[in-house]
Amino acid sequence: MTAEASGRGVLDGRVALITGAAQGLGASFASALSAQGACVALVDLSDTQGACERIRLSGGRAIALRADVTRRDEVQAAVNATVQAFGGLDILVNNAALSAALRLCRMSDITSEQWDQVMAVNVRGTFECMKAAVPLMAERSYGKIVNIASGTAIKGTPGLLHYVASKGAVISMTRAAARELGAQGIRVNCLAPGLTRSEGVVAHPDWSGEAARSASLVSRALQRDGQPQDLLGSMVFLCSSASDFITGQTLVVDGGSAMV
Ligand SMILES: NC(=O)c1ccc[n+]([C@@H]2O[C@H](COP(=O)([O-])OP(=O)(O)OC[C@H]3O[C@@H](n4cnc5c(N)ncnc54)[C@H](O)[C@@H]3O)[C@@H](O)[C@H]2O)c1
Repeated sequence: MTAEASGRGVLDGRVALITGAAQGLGASFASALSAQGACVALVDLSDTQGACERIRLSGGRAIALRADVTRRDEVQAAVNATVQAFGGLDILVNNAALSAALRLCRMSDITSEQWDQVMAVNVRGTFECMKAAVPLMAERSYGKIVNIASGTAIKGTPGLLHYVASKGAVISMTRAAARELGAQGIRVNCLAPGLTRSEGVVAHPDWSGEAARSASLVSRALQRDGQPQDLLGSMVFLCSSASDFITGQTLVVDGGSAMV
């Protein structure tokens, strides 16, 4: 029996919206929050029905929504549909990104269009979702926003300048939003994974190849691959009342590679 089915989850009665949840880490985050009792809205450009159905089969309450996080109208519609289905919104996980699909390349090979695209999804998408969610959280004087950053932004990993810059912006935006929203009871934190074997990473030669894998492993105090389940305890913690006095922080989960 899941925590939700037994009514014992630490997120019992909470409503969470997770972006980029059709597959990969987003789908894992949605399952983990559901297993702790949250009602979950899965949002993605791609179809989230499959991920949603798996949660329902485990006894969770989930809805599948399609939205492009760069489109303000679509984000607002997804937030409205979540409130209509579950009566409010307490938790936002900004996970959608141009990420696993990106190729490693030198700065000179990144086009202006690629730069703008990465910034639009990873930075402005995070902003659009926060902007739409905050009024609902403010109504309840309580909310949890978890923005997914990346260890690459802390380490300055080469070969991904647009992506690294976007995740650095997510960390800075998280700090400024935490100060702005604290008085309304809204906590804003980052979870920063290291290289993690999500579906997209496993399928991508640049990330699953021996070079990337061994570079990542030697940099870690705990020298093994990062798996999606390694992130779930931290995600649940940042969404739960156990972290209510923590805001504006970045929790790095990478086996001890970036030490801040
Ligand atoms: N896997 C890793 O090694 C790793 C490491 C550090 C950080 N991260 C971060 O974790 C998150 C998830 O990683 P992943 O490996 O599952 O990535 P992924 O690329 O497999 O998944 C990203 C998801 O976002 C969705 N998406 C993309 N653009 C969108 C848009 N405009 N609107 C709505 N949805 C959109 C995609 O459809 C996809 O389902 C990302 O923010 C990524 O940057 C991942």
